[in-house]
Amino acid sequence: MKIFLDTASIESIKKFVDMGVVDGITTNPTLISREKGHPEDIMREIVKIVKGPVNLEVVATNTNDMVEEGLRLKKFGENVIVKIPMTMDGLMAVRKLKEKGIKTNVTLIFSSNQALLAAKAGASYVSPFIGRLDDVGQDGMTIIRELVQIFKNYGYQSEILVASVRHPIHVIEAGKLGAHIVTLPPEILGKMLTHPLTDKGLSLFLSDWEKVKKEHKYNI
Ligand code: E4P
Repeated sequence: MKIFLDTASIESIKKFVDMGVVDGITTNPTLISREKGHPEDIMREIVKIVKGPVNLEVVATNTNDMVEEGLRLKKFGENVIVKIPMTMDGLMAVRKLKEKGIKTNVTLIFSSNQALLAAKAGASYVSPFIGRLDDVGQDGMTIIRELVQIFKNYGYQSEILVASVRHPIHVIEAGKLGAHIVTLPPEILGKMLTHPLTDKGLSLFLSDWEKVKKEHKYNI
C-alpha cells in the first residue's frame, strides 16, 4: 500500500521523507493557504524534495484554463500529477491532458459513480474524500469497497487514492479493502507511528540496562 502525505508543509514533508515511508504528496489550495511563502515557491520546493508523485491542484474551473494551468504546473517537475476537480469541465481537461501524456488525479469525489466516470475519462488517480462523507453521516469507506470491486471487474487502471483520512483505523480499513494509496495528514502518520506500550517497553529496557551497566561496570 502506498502512503502519500497530505500537506504543503515543507518541514513535515522533509521529516517523513527522511523516514523513508512517504511515496508521494497531495496538496490542495487550502493546504497551501496554511503555509507562509509564495505558493509557487512552496510547490517547486515540494517537487524538488520528493521523488514520487506530487499532486498539485488547478484552481481554474473551465476546461481550457485547467489544461493550460496543468501544463504550467507540470513544468515544475516530471513527478507532478495535475489535480483536477470532479466536474464536467474537469473530466474534459483530464482527457485532454492525458492526450498530452500528463497524468491527473480527479479530486473531490464523493460517490462511486463520480469515480467511475473519472476512471473512464482517463484519470491516473481517483480521490474519494472519505472523512468528509463520514462527517455528514454517510459511510465513506463504502465507496472504497465499491470502487475496488468495480475497477477490478472491468480492469480500470486508475489507482484508488483514499483521501480525507481522519484516523489510523481508516488506513487499516482502506488496506484491508485493497485501496492502492492512502494520503495522510502528518498528524495521522504520527499516530500510526506510536503506541504507549512501545514507549513503556523501551523505558523498561533502558532502565534494566542501567542496572546491568552498574552491576558489571559495563559502559555501553
Ligand atoms: C486529498 O487530496 C485532499 O487534499 C485531502 O485529503 C482533503 O482532506 P480534508 O477533508 O481533511 O480537507
